[in-house]
Amino acid sequence: MQSQNPIFIPGPTNIPERVRLAMAQPAWDHRSAEFDQLIVPLCADIRSVFGTTQGDIALFTGSGTTGWDIAMGNLLAPGERVLAANQGMFSQRWIDLAKRMGLDVEVVEVEWGEGIPLEAFEAILAADTQHSIRAVLAVHNETATGVTSDMGALRAVLDRCGHDALLMVDGVSSVGSLPFAMDEWGVDVAVSGSQKGFMLPTGLAIVAVSQRAQARLDRVNHAQGHLDLAVILEAGRQGGYPWTPAISLIQALRISVDMLLEEGLEQVYARHAHMAKGVRAAVNAWDLSIFAKQPALYSNTVTAVALPESVSAKALVAHANARYRTSFGGGLGAFQDRLFRIGHLGALTESMALSGLATAEMAMADCGVKFDAGAGVAAAQQVYRNG
Ligand SMILES: Cc1ncc(COP(=O)(O)O)c(C=O)c1O
Repeated sequence: MQSQNPIFIPGPTNIPERVRLAMAQPAWDHRSAEFDQLIVPLCADIRSVFGTTQGDIALFTGSGTTGWDIAMGNLLAPGERVLAANQGMFSQRWIDLAKRMGLDVEVVEVEWGEGIPLEAFEAILAADTQHSIRAVLAVHNETATGVTSDMGALRAVLDRCGHDALLMVDGVSSVGSLPFAMDEWGVDVAVSGSQKGFMLPTGLAIVAVSQRAQARLDRVNHAQGHLDLAVILEAGRQGGYPWTPAISLIQALRISVDMLLEEGLEQVYARHAHMAKGVRAAVNAWDLSIFAKQPALYSNTVTAVALPESVSAKALVAHANARYRTSFGGGLGAFQDRLFRIGHLGALTESMALSGLATAEMAMADCGVKFDAGAGVAAAQQVYRNG
């Protein structure tokens, strides 16, 4: 039988029917007034998803990684110093990219499963009285470990130190799913992608840039060949794309942003919290542990589950896919055989989450995980019925 099961990876996420249909259109002229009438109000609406009224939005063809590349390439010059923490695979990849771009990266190593090390950052920023650190790179939601860090607290650290470094935040697996308050947190650049909270296929880097950061855009020499951020921010404000954008994805983004705003962002965040609570209740009922070190760090978009030593996480994920045609996230880096990850973001209902948990139970039982079969589903049902 041909069938499509929902996926439970932390992106790409399930694509709602309305969004899929929005992509099935004849070709549009991206230099037409019609396209400008699509893009300008869309970028204005995307601001609210990032929690900004002053920042501007740039849409680039690419993925979240493209957003990092463009943000750093346009705002930082080789040799400049940046501060970052290695707290999971995605923060590590961001650091690697920054190093490849010639930035002088001060890396704070953190045990994976921990959040951004605020005390260590504060000590480094306070000692940097010359303000040689030009930017702080922070992953809001580390998808590899299921950890959400407190961006408001990070802003408070910068403020206490009186430090003017740009705050560059990876919101790839948080924007559109978790509360994101760009203006309140004083975020200068926030990077996201189309395939997570925005519920689209992969293909768009969605970047929000504060006025403060935009004022620095002319400072860096663009000789390294990075796509011009200033030009695309202007296209979002006024229309007039200089090169061909991913038109069908932008058409679909109009629908997904409508869906987020129709549901109401507060309700979207509450729904994610509710889904996550059910998933965590299931993990507890299985007597397995959540990889994030403390409850305050638990992510409402992805839960990384630690398996007993005797069970291979890689085998579990492969088995769920082969036998039940259902995808869960694997562990990453050193934890690739120890963790499996349940993505619970984007277009997800209680029934979908329960089907994922029930399938995880079948796969775990097949792979020899010892747990009380049905207990996870029952625990999640309890949460969902009471929610
Ligand atoms: C937190 C985070 N940052 C960055 C990325 C990289 O984004 P992309 O795969 O869209 O390039 C991902 C991808 O999952 C992610 O979860």
